[in-house]
Amino acid sequence: RPGAQHWIPPGADLDQLREAARACRGCELYENATQTVFGAGSPTARVVLVGEQPGDQEDRQGLPFVGPAGRLLDRALAEVGIERADAYVTNAVKHFRFTQSGPGKRRLHQTPDMGHITACKPWLQAELAILDPEVIIALGATAGRALLGPSFRVTKQRGMLIPWPTDAGEEGTRRSAFVVATVHPSAVLRADDRESAYAGLVADLRVAAEVLH
Ligand code: URA
Ligand code: SF4
Repeated sequence: RPGAQHWIPPGADLDQLREAARACRGCELYENATQTVFGAGSPTARVVLVGEQPGDQEDRQGLPFVGPAGRLLDRALAEVGIERADAYVTNAVKHFRFTQSGPGKRRLHQTPDMGHITACKPWLQAELAILDPEVIIALGATAGRALLGPSFRVTKQRGMLIPWPTDAGEEGTRRSAFVVATVHPSAVLRADDRESAYAGLVADLRVAAEVLH
């Protein structure tokens, strides 16, 4: 896997990155997916949400978090006063990884491995360098590993303000940023006790929202 770096144009803005990502062959996942699903949202967002990878619907529509997990996420964000329109939403891995056992069979989500996360990370780093957000919300283990490394554990690190290094800015400008990790919205949809899983997600998102207030 050569990684995405080779496809990233230097000095690109977000729209130019999105366009360039369409051609990425930084790992093998482009081969079976429909299209690259790049991040989307406000270019002036103070909060960036990072998911795992596009799901079936995102792969077809070319936009992040537009399926069932996205609808749950929108609802949870609204509860803590974060409008999706004021945020930027992306994924750690930009192509859908799935298995399909025969013709006409449903495409089944497969978790990306550390190699895919590493290969795709230059896109995420480029997005974050341009956006320079105050809060990055890691949705689930894959996002947490992409941002904080392979030893990340969502059960141990969720709901905390984890300092995120930013460039030293001009005097008087904000220079602190945080990662807040939580569960993936798909995990809430699959949970036995959906109500308490949802409440946990909202509680973690509230930690992030408080940084913005
Ligand atoms: N799950 C994700 O992690 N990302 C999406 O975009 C959709 C579902
Ligand atoms: Fe490139 Fe990422 Fe897609 Fe792999 S998953 S081909 S690194 S955009």
